[in-house]
Amino acid sequence: MVQLSLTAVVGALALIMGTVSADCTRESLLAAADTYITAQTAGKLDVLTTLDTSNFTYRENNKVVDIKKGVLTQALKIDLNRSTADTVACASYTMLISSTGTKPYVVGTQIRHTDSGSIAMIDTIAATTGSLFFDAKKTLGYIQAESWAPITDVSSRASRDTLKKVGDAYLDMWTDKNAADTIPWGTNCERVEGSRLTKPCGGSLPHGGSSKPNGMRRYVIDETIGSVDVLCSFDSLGNMPDSHEIRVEAGKVKYVHTITVE
Ligand SMILES: *[C@@H]1O[C@H](CO)[C@@H](O)[C@H](O)[C@H]1NC(C)=O
Ligand SMILES: *[C@@H]1O[C@H](CO)[C@@H](O)[C@H](O)[C@H]1NC(C)=O
Repeated sequence: MVQLSLTAVVGALALIMGTVSADCTRESLLAAADTYITAQTAGKLDVLTTLDTSNFTYRENNKVVDIKKGVLTQALKIDLNRSTADTVACASYTMLISSTGTKPYVVGTQIRHTDSGSIAMIDTIAATTGSLFFDAKKTLGYIQAESWAPITDVSSRASRDTLKKVGDAYLDMWTDKNAADTIPWGTNCERVEGSRLTKPCGGSLPHGGSSKPNGMRRYVIDETIGSVDVLCSFDSLGNMPDSHEIRVEAGKVKYVHTITVE
């Protein structure tokens, strides 16, 4: 009897919570991303109250691990955070830079929600000292100077399809000699790879040469910001956990960020 009513209460609660958060709006996705930032700041998981109870996955640097053993349990003083939202995939992407702690980090995290709004996956690329071109202070300096404000001229926004193509073409440059030429490089484009700045970013690009395509691609596409983030396994250069984020303004690539763990 007690058992039965408890089950009923839990069921009703799940239903209510599901109904409340079922909408995959920008606001709800960014609010969930903020909760993740709060958790990372404190190094505490208890604020993550909407993790899916039946099927939640935590992935760090392309490996499924116990969230209690991940970077999220380390309190980080965060110097910069920025999130984008993908209302079609019901996902968000957050970049975090923590440059002043004993262990500095540059983190790229995709959060995926179920249809009912709970968090099905937290998928993190966490770079620290020893990662490719890692220098959090330098990265912070470059990225602080950028603008990732919403693109106000709606008619000039790149479509979801275009953004995905740009992300894929970028990752294909190492295996497809023609991929670089399909990307609409902006003249004032900046590329920040770890802490390495290349400007304009359409210079010194790979034109094939590897036989291994970059795999395990996961996308967060935000037409409002003009961004695509792709988490992948950077197999062209050797199986490295990686995040590539690109912003397109008025049809041209403006910024490229990479976070790569060696
Ligand atoms: C559980 O989540 C994983 C990753 O999101 C997904 O691939 C899988 O299909 C899910 N399983 C079930 C039973 O929903
Ligand atoms: C995240 O960034 C926003 C906007 O720049 C800022 O207002 C907020 O305080 C930041 N959060 C943390 C935890 O640093």
